[in-house]
Amino acid sequence: MKDTLIEQAEIFVRTELGEDPTGHDWYHVDRVRRSALHICKEEGLGDPLVIELAALLHDIPDEKLIDTVEQGRAKLGSFFKSNIVPANIQDHIFEIIDTISYKGGRKIELKTIEAKIVQDADRLDAIGAIGIARAFAYGGKKGQLIYHPNIQVREKMSLEEYRSGKSTSIHHFYEKLLKLKDLLNTNTARKMAEKRQQMMLSFLEQFFQEWDGQDL
Ligand code: ADP
Ligand code: NI
Repeated sequence: MKDTLIEQAEIFVRTELGEDPTGHDWYHVDRVRRSALHICKEEGLGDPLVIELAALLHDIPDEKLIDTVEQGRAKLGSFFKSNIVPANIQDHIFEIIDTISYKGGRKIELKTIEAKIVQDADRLDAIGAIGIARAFAYGGKKGQLIYHPNIQVREKMSLEEYRSGKSTSIHHFYEKLLKLKDLLNTNTARKMAEKRQQMMLSFLEQFFQEWDGQDL
């Protein structure tokens, strides 16, 4: 039963998000699944089935990718129904997905280790070399500039400002990506984040050297 359910979830996500051009495509989902299962194994904590399913399904009801969150939740509900997923697992997965998103810096206390692990895995994919690539893919698709020196880095912002306020992809590093390493829940993820953080810091250093013509 487990393998078929996972296989069905894979097919469902591939169909829904397969080629999303904002960095939330199938391969993002697959990396989050892999990292989440790795953290689960290293920490020796959490139910691997819930973790794997939540990781696979976490971006289905994402407001960035669909018209309304309700639409995404309904899609997820029909997936659960047609695959006869037990009610307690459905509830747990909905709770994980509802609580793990960053959304401009909101802090929700996560109730279960499964939620903490999937959140860590999703955040690890937002940093490092992949995180850099995803930020510019997202920024390009949303029509924002690579960088603009006159735009201020925002410290606190509402969800509305976070989603639609004026910003650039370089600003996103200061508004979110560089902060993520201190917001991780597990030691395994904190360890994995070290090299990724270094990667972003050296990228930004080099970016500004080239921007200012210091390498001329
Ligand atoms: P969440 O869904 O957890 O709230 P985000 O909405 O911040 O997370 O989106 C996830 C990923 O999308 C980020 O890690 C980043 O790669 C990209 N992203 C989101 N907003 C921006 C932005 N303004 N500029 C560049 N990339 C962004
Ligand atoms: Ni994600």
